[in-house]
Amino acid sequence: MNLHEDQRHDEDRLLDHSYDGIQEYDNPLPGWWKWVFWASIGYAVLYVMYYEVGVGTSVMDDFDLQRAAFFSAQEAQFADLEINEATIAELSTRPDLMAAMRKRFESNCSTCHAADASGLAGPNLTDEFWIHGGTRMEIYKTIRDGVRGKAMQAWLDRFGPAGVLTMSAYIDSIRGTNRPGPRGPEGKQLDPDDLIFSVEPAAPPATTDPPAPPGPAVEE
Ligand code: HEC
Repeated sequence: MNLHEDQRHDEDRLLDHSYDGIQEYDNPLPGWWKWVFWASIGYAVLYVMYYEVGVGTSVMDDFDLQRAAFFSAQEAQFADLEINEATIAELSTRPDLMAAMRKRFESNCSTCHAADASGLAGPNLTDEFWIHGGTRMEIYKTIRDGVRGKAMQAWLDRFGPAGVLTMSAYIDSIRGTNRPGPRGPEGKQLDPDDLIFSVEPAAPPATTDPPAPPGPAVEE
């Protein structure tokens, strides 16, 4: 193609009408751009057909699988632990575990106990008052077995022993934070002496030694 032909080809694409001498130029999108455009539409159709309608694993399925894998890994990790006050107290001091349990609480328990556990149809779990007892093992048993004849179901089938254990640790971690709820106190106030085992929040190691005086500068 010589220069002359090329120019004529460009002029061909000038549209007929002229506005005060200004002519419109028909400048189509490049072929590669249109190709990508149609390919992305085709891809979207195939994606929906495969992942949402067909046999592919959708984002939600994938999420469920990953969540199930997370909880069964946790199950294995905590399976050998003895279930007692000390174990629950120790688990309740693990920040990563408690963050995961907060999410689990929000998705399973918030309809009745509110997302911040301050109570709705179910009692406030952040105060010092307990209908079924507020020691760690009593809370564990309430979650495991539920309350017969009340909306509170038994969670053992759903969560497994490790899940009930770690959920009890979560309730332990929020017990006594006294978030104001709509229901007011219900049940009996927990006597701190009934807590067979209590852990204080991690304090810096107590040291009676005065800080060491600065030593002579070390030359390297
Ligand atoms: C469908 C509603 C509902 C859901 C969901 C629910 N609960 Fe409950 N829960 C209740 C009710 C109602 C009670 C009070 C039972 C009673 O009055 O004896 C209760 C009581 C409790 C208690 C004992 C409170 C006390 O004062 O002794 C604990 C602990 C508890 N729930 C934890 C949980 C946890 C953890 C979850 C989520 C895994 C959960 N609940 C999900 C309705 C629910």
